[in-house]
Amino acid sequence: MNAATDPPLIDVPERLDGERTVLLAPRTGSGAEMALVITQSLSHLRPWMPWAQDAPTAESSELVVRRMQADFIARRDLCFHIHARRADGSAGRLLGGTGLHRIDWAVRRFEIGYWIRPDAAGQGHVSETVRLLSTLAFDLLAARRVEIRCDRRNNRSRAVAERCGFELEGILRNNVLGVDGHPRDTCVYSRVNAPVA
Ligand SMILES: CC(C)(COP(=O)(O)OP(=O)(O)OC[C@H]1O[C@@H](n2cnc3c(N)ncnc32)[C@H](O)[C@@H]1OP(=O)(O)O)[C@@H](O)C(=O)NCCC(=O)NCCS
Repeated sequence: MNAATDPPLIDVPERLDGERTVLLAPRTGSGAEMALVITQSLSHLRPWMPWAQDAPTAESSELVVRRMQADFIARRDLCFHIHARRADGSAGRLLGGTGLHRIDWAVRRFEIGYWIRPDAAGQGHVSETVRLLSTLAFDLLAARRVEIRCDRRNNRSRAVAERCGFELEGILRNNVLGVDGHPRDTCVYSRVNAPVA
């Protein structure tokens, strides 16, 4: 038994600290607050996030949070909640969600996803979040490749990837159906830890 073959043995911190942002692994009991933030953010999330079409209940969000917690422990999916950092360093207001997703531990490949409540957008919290997760992936989890994927039309998401040094590798045409059921193009951005031979 070892961490190379048994992902649950891989150490992953449950808290990451930036200058203005704190990332916390999902915790039991945070569902009601998450439901409120998603409900307040719905019109901003709806065009891009398939899971944010209708307002969740406190109970449905608690279920999602507990599944995220289970996936975090199993190292299947590493979700974090984005919080503002208070002056004393503690985690303040819940701002959104992020994580390292679609993990391939053999390749050491991860995909970063993110969303933030609209009244906290445009302040650099998401860029700081992406930098924290990139450092976690490359420095602690020995990532070879980290991707950011987004809809070609999602200019704010593309700006985050570009601001954080991710390179546009290509655009996958008609790759997915958007939330409106129409085919959409997907931009694939990446950072790798060594030049490709
Ligand atoms: C995509 C999304 C996460 C981007 O959030 P964001 O807040 O714009 O991203 P950032 O944290 O990088 O903030 C960038 C802005 O903050 C400003 N900023 C201020 N201080 C900053 C700092 N220290 N560092 C970086 N940017 C800073 C930037 O100039 C930029 O301003 P601009 O929007 O006027 O150009 C957000 O629009 C969102 O949640 N959208 C809906 C969900 C979604 O589409 N998710 C992505 C799916 S792929």
